[in-house]
Parts: sequence; C-alpha cells; structure tokens
Amino acid sequence: MNAIQVLDKFAASGVETCFHDRHINPQIYAGINGSNWSIKDYEARGGYAALRQILGQDGGAGLTQDQVIATVKESGLRGRGGAGFPTGLKWSFMPRQFPGVKHLVCNSDEGEPGTCKDREILMHNPHIVIEGMIIAAYAMGIPLGYNYIHGEIFQVYERFEAALEEARAAGYLGNNIMGSSFSFQLHAAHGFGAYICGEETALLESLEGKKGQPRFKPPFPASYGLYGKPTTINNTQSYASVPTILRKGSEWFAGLGVPNSGGTVVFSVSGHVNKPGNFELPMGIPFAELLELAGGVRGGRKLKAVIPGGSSTPVVPAAVMLATNMDYDSVRAAGSAVGSAAVIVMDETTCMVKVLERLSRFYMSESCGQCTPCREGTGWLNRMLKRILAGEGRREDIGMLVEVANKIEGHTICALGDAAAWPVQSFIKHFRHEFEYMIDHGGRSIVDGELAAA
Ligand SMILES: Cc1cc2nc3c(=O)[nH]c(=O)nc-3n(C[C@H](O)[C@H](O)[C@H](O)COP(=O)(O)O)c2cc1C
Ligand code: SF4
Repeated sequence: MNAIQVLDKFAASGVETCFHDRHINPQIYAGINGSNWSIKDYEARGGYAALRQILGQDGGAGLTQDQVIATVKESGLRGRGGAGFPTGLKWSFMPRQFPGVKHLVCNSDEGEPGTCKDREILMHNPHIVIEGMIIAAYAMGIPLGYNYIHGEIFQVYERFEAALEEARAAGYLGNNIMGSSFSFQLHAAHGFGAYICGEETALLESLEGKKGQPRFKPPFPASYGLYGKPTTINNTQSYASVPTILRKGSEWFAGLGVPNSGGTVVFSVSGHVNKPGNFELPMGIPFAELLELAGGVRGGRKLKAVIPGGSSTPVVPAAVMLATNMDYDSVRAAGSAVGSAAVIVMDETTCMVKVLERLSRFYMSESCGQCTPCREGTGWLNRMLKRILAGEGRREDIGMLVEVANKIEGHTICALGDAAAWPVQSFIKHFRHEFEYMIDHGGRSIVDGELAAA
C-alpha cells in the first residue's frame, strides 16, 4: 500500500478537533478541544479502559506482562523521542526479575528546536501519558516512575501535577490500583531548560539532583539507570500512544502507518508555512500533503529546503523533500531522519549560511562540555560561520567546517555532537554555493543578491 492509499483512510469528516482544527481525523488525539483535559473528560473518551482491561478489572481475565509487551511490539510503535527505537523491544530489555526497585521515566524535556508536541500532549491530554506510563510500569513490573518536564514550561508541569492528583484520587495510581495487586507511584519533576537534559542519561543525572551531563554507555539505563537501578525511559508521545494501542489492538495501530513505521505521529510543522502547528497524521504521509495541511509556503513563495525531524537532522532540498513520504525509511532514503517529527520549512528567501550559524550557536551553547570534540568543535564551527557572515571568510573555511564536523561526528559521549555535525555537513553538501557566494562577496548573502537582481 502506498502512502496516498494510506491517506485515503484519513479522509476528513465532520468537525475535527485536536490541538486545533486542521487535522485529518486524528486517531489518538481525537476530540480534544483545549479545555477537556480532566479525568472525567478523558474517561468519557475511553480513557483508562485499557488499564482496567489489562488489570482484569472489567470482568475479563486481564493481560499478562508478556501479552502487553507483545502487543506493543506488534503495533510497530517506535520511540517518538528522536531515535525511533522500537518501544516494545525496549520494554523487553527490562530485567523484570531484578529484586530491587526499578524505575520508569518519561522524557518530556523537549528542547530540540522545532519540536513542540509533547507540551501540547501534556497540556491537553495529560491522562493519556499517565495511563500509558501505568501500563508500561505494569508490563515491566516497575513500582516507581517520574515524568521529567522541560523547565521553562511551568504551566505544563502544573497541569501534569493536577492530572496526577486526579489519577491518584480515582485509584488509578498508588497502592493496589483499582483493587488489583499492582501498585505504581508516579511523580512529576521539572528540569531547568537545558537541551542536553533530554539526552536520556543526562536526564537521569539531573533527576538525581546532579549536573545534567550524559553518562558513558554502556551500561544502558535498562541495567544501570536512575540511582543505578534498572530503568526504562521513553518519550512522552511514545507512552501516549500505548493506551489506544491496547484498546484498539496492535493491528489497528500498525495498519495506520506503513511497514516499519507503524501508527500515527504528531508532526510539528514550523517555519515558513501559513498555518504552523501540530498535526497528528499517519506515518508515511507524503511531505507535500503535510505542507498543504500546514497552509502551504507562506506568501505563495517557493519552497527551498526542509529540516524534517528537528534541528539535529540533516537538511533536505525542496525537490527531494517534495517527493518524499514521512516515514522512517523514506526520510532516511532522502538523506535525513524522522527524528522527533519536527518539520522546519524554509522558503526561497532563506539564507542558508545564516540558518546554519543560528543552529551552530544553539549547539555550542547547549554542549555540556564533557568531550573535547564537542566542547571545542561546536565553538570552532560557530566562530567560522560568524567570520563568513562578517565578510571575513576564506574559501578554505568551507572545507574546514566539514572537517571539524567530521571530527565531532561519532567521537563523543552522546549524540549532541552528531546533532551539531549533521546540519553543517548537510547544509554544505546541498548549499555549498551559498557559502562560496558569501565568502566571495564580502559577507553578502546570495539571497540578497538574488532579490536585488529580481
Ligand atoms: C542532545 C539530546 C537531546 C535529546 N532530547 C530529547 C527530548 O527532549 N525528548 C526525548 O524524548 N528524547 C530526547 N532525546 C533522545 C533520548 O536520549 C532518548 O532516546 C529518548 O527519550 C527515548 O525515548 P523513545 O525511545 O520513546 O524515543 C535526546 C537525545 C539527545 C542526544
Ligand atoms: S557530546 Fe557534547 S553534550 Fe554530549 S556529552 Fe559530549 S560534550 Fe556533552
């Protein structure tokens, strides 16, 4: 089945509400209008029914831990935090027989430029994350969990706290959940706005009250996680996908997407579009359709390039992107990655040198400084780009930018180094002439040159 056929299943009908009114039949976030976040609203949408069923509190036999993990595996759900790791497989790594406390962590740090979906899920539908985490905890035999929420969005933290209170009062959280023998305590924690604390081991360090710096892996969190105990960490949207998968079945979810990319995903479309926003859509939707849903390129201008999966993923030129479907394999074939599904759209007026300088400044500022290639390299990249923008660039700088990026990539403790390198490599690969033009014209952008000539 190709992506256009997949899309047919999502033909719009009636009033569509999700984070706004531009979705084509949201599957997981249907019926959300911005104010119906509370527990009674969630229950009215079928919330907590999956948990009730799993725990055998609906009159049925309940599901075993293995059955829950198998269902998540079969659904094809892949982690929505960026790496796309299969969620059910990750859950199977948890040593369930470990005698001490095991931890479950939700990664709501969401600091990648362009990414803005987890905060909306938490704000408008917090109970779906809570239910997903309770189901995950049950499947892995975990008694204690935390949701680590990005530091600068206190209203989201407060909303999640309020939802936790409701879930506890309703008996969905705490000891002997719904009268069963299963107990799970869940707490919210907020960070302080550091991008690096979204890296899972830095997040764990930060949760422990330490400086948020990534740990060397292995050991991985499944064996040595929070406070040195086995820990499973997933993204907000990964957990949020779980209750509906359990309620409607793994086949339903897998069938929404395309092979190897099951289900729907929330695409955060930003940049030069008429209607930026979060769109829950099936995996495999053609990028051209997504662009259309986002109102097309602003002012009727021409599309120049797209960063398809958050600022760390390689940039893709317009022609390639317009022929690409938004699933893991297709975006990889186009030379980039689905990442966190944050789609940054750039029109023809965009100066790629300026964009790269802005991105490199972000990675320089957010480097935790542990590894020499990242600490020194990110600053070096930014200084060279600033020099080019200031009209003091040399042709050799272009090769040097690539060389420094290559020396960072794959030579650091965490993937922030790669995230800093990939934009540099891809921007120069596809838009080298813009760098050359600026160097040859004393800091003048090719875009300004083109506009002046028009
Ligand atoms: C620098 C950096 C920042 C990251 N930020 C986030 C983030 O904000 N949210 C997130 O879920 N994953 C983030 N990740 C990925 C996490 O390390 C981890 O892979 C993810 O939380 C696992 O969840 P998933 O399997 O459900 O995607 C980041 C990774 C790196 C290297
Ligand atoms: S790659 Fe950068 S952010 Fe990651 S551990 Fe090394 S210095 Fe810190």
